[in-house]
Amino acid sequence: MRLAERTSLLRPSPTMALDAQAKEMQRAGRSVISFGVGEPDFDTPEPVKEAAIAALRAGRTKYTPVAGIPELRKAIAERFLREQGTSYPEAGVVVTAGAKQALYELFQALLNPGDEVIVPAPYWVTYPDQIVLAGGRPVVVPVGLERRFGLTLADLEAATTERTRAVVLNSPQNPAGAVLEPDEVVRIAEWAAARGIALISDEVYGKLVYDGAEHRSPASASPAAREATIVVDAVSKTYAMTGWRIGWLLTSDLKLASAVSSLQSQSTSNANSVAQYAALAALQGDDAALPGMVRAFAARRDLMVDLLRRLPGFEVDVPRGAFYCFPRVRQLLESPPKGLHFDSGDALAAYLLEETGVAIVPGSGFGMPEYVRLSYATSEEQIREGLTRVAKALGA
Ligand SMILES: Cc1ncc(COP(=O)(O)O)c(C=O)c1O
Repeated sequence: MRLAERTSLLRPSPTMALDAQAKEMQRAGRSVISFGVGEPDFDTPEPVKEAAIAALRAGRTKYTPVAGIPELRKAIAERFLREQGTSYPEAGVVVTAGAKQALYELFQALLNPGDEVIVPAPYWVTYPDQIVLAGGRPVVVPVGLERRFGLTLADLEAATTERTRAVVLNSPQNPAGAVLEPDEVVRIAEWAAARGIALISDEVYGKLVYDGAEHRSPASASPAAREATIVVDAVSKTYAMTGWRIGWLLTSDLKLASAVSSLQSQSTSNANSVAQYAALAALQGDDAALPGMVRAFAARRDLMVDLLRRLPGFEVDVPRGAFYCFPRVRQLLESPPKGLHFDSGDALAAYLLEETGVAIVPGSGFGMPEYVRLSYATSEEQIREGLTRVAKALGA
């Protein structure tokens, strides 16, 4: 078959590719420890599962409105108001099959050919591909370890041209766990509003912050900032619900909400009906499982940072959010232990997987080839065992 040109624009997700390889090795009987996964290892809270079972029993198994059941859209808007002090209309809430679909539809709805979108790096792997698929041009702005991944307004200003249509903000961030300072968020939000630039704020890790870090949405900076901001969020990470596929976007621009709904109506229609009721229960619940999950992540983070700092040529900052460490391995690539040679982070990750059965993700997919990403959404035993194997393989 002759395939459409757009299929050649796509790079397969490197995290998913690595996950597939690790699972293949496991099937072949190898002992594999994966630091590749981007999902909590906790189970979905029991009351959420019960709500899904109740929805099934009540026959909530039919099509719903494309933008989601009214109760869920209301709960999403109410929650954002409660937590960020900013009100979005329920008509500006569109429920999607995960945050990923919300982002996909946003780029499709906002971009014309050649429109530029500023993407700070390291970035979540999916943004550039979704932008390119929509005909846009990702403008990557790297901010690395030397600046503790601290994006500033000056970085965005320097990358802005007359074609800049949008900026993607992701705080807390995947992969480095950086959390933007609240005053920087306000500066960026005011600037975007004044320049007529859309701020796409991916807040899926908003609840996973440590050491007293504060997650501030740019939408909360001012009424103008709220109008410039489109918030993207999901139950995926917060409630250990990655497989349920419920996310959403919030916008005050009802024309945009309606365009996104139209796109969705001609592609996937409503998000899964039963999962919507489960998400409703999650949002209306008391978040009882959350503090324990955050405490566990913080302890695992401390352990992982401590062990990574003992590895030769690994430099790592303490992440303040999400559940990943993103060490720079430049020194290791430049002067590897005797007898070893890696010409890239990709080669290092391939060597470690083959040699030790430990899966880590090369930084190239996140726009930073001299780094690697390790998820600490796994047990302390696995972290200890995995990093002990890595240390041995690197002669530490
Ligand atoms: C920054 C970021 N945004 C969005 C998503 C996608 O979330 P969902 O599973 O709700 O589509 C992920 C998942 O890894 C992510 O890391």
